[in-house]
Amino acid sequence: MLDLNAKPDRPLVAASILSADFGYMIRDCREVLGKGADLLHVDVMDGHFAQNLTMGQDMIRALRRHLPDTVLDVHLMVERPGDYIDDFAKAGASNFTFHLEVHHGDDARALIDRIKDAGMTVGMAINPATPPDGLAPFLDLLDVVLVMSVVPGASGQSFMPEVLPKTQWAAQRVGDKTRVEMDGGLSPTTAPAAAAAGCDMMVTASALFGSDDRADVIRALHESAP
Ligand code: DX5
Ligand code: ZN
Repeated sequence: MLDLNAKPDRPLVAASILSADFGYMIRDCREVLGKGADLLHVDVMDGHFAQNLTMGQDMIRALRRHLPDTVLDVHLMVERPGDYIDDFAKAGASNFTFHLEVHHGDDARALIDRIKDAGMTVGMAINPATPPDGLAPFLDLLDVVLVMSVVPGASGQSFMPEVLPKTQWAAQRVGDKTRVEMDGGLSPTTAPAAAAAGCDMMVTASALFGSDDRADVIRALHESAP
């Protein structure tokens, strides 16, 4: 299985299943993995932190059963991520990312420990409007820093270039073992700016699943680094 702690020589492509056809979920996942996507990104929303209801542990379990060797990068846009650590670990999640907006300070430190104890890698996500300072105490403990380039809630929104300085801020401070992920509005057009800012893990939903040539989108993201 892909090791998220190994610095990649080109940006990793995380296919966000939010834009897959839910009626053909495993078929769509196999297709994009076969065309070069490095991992799957699973967006969990609770209708409170983000105004949408998406999926949970049963989807993770099904993905894990059918795709035993695929990294499942689970992004929790929920108010109480701590409620899901054990269930998601058992279901087969690989990486568990929660938002700085719901857990910070000592509270976040405790959550990071629990996620690691459950056997998952850990990420912290930050919304476009949130300043990055709250991430600083945790950078050495994180496997993934996730910079949101849209307001969480839905696929298909426009990339917000104003978060690029925050991406650069994170990329300059993390060690080789930590990935700098961006999520929202990434496409062959916007990916070069993300890569130039230091993003080495790119989430894509609508640009990938909405394309007639998915292999070409994946290739463009892989080749977007300067
Ligand atoms: C947004 C989700 C994203 C979303 C990305 O709230 O966290 O992962 O699926 O969708 P696109 O790539 O279409 O912006
Ligand atoms: Zn996401």
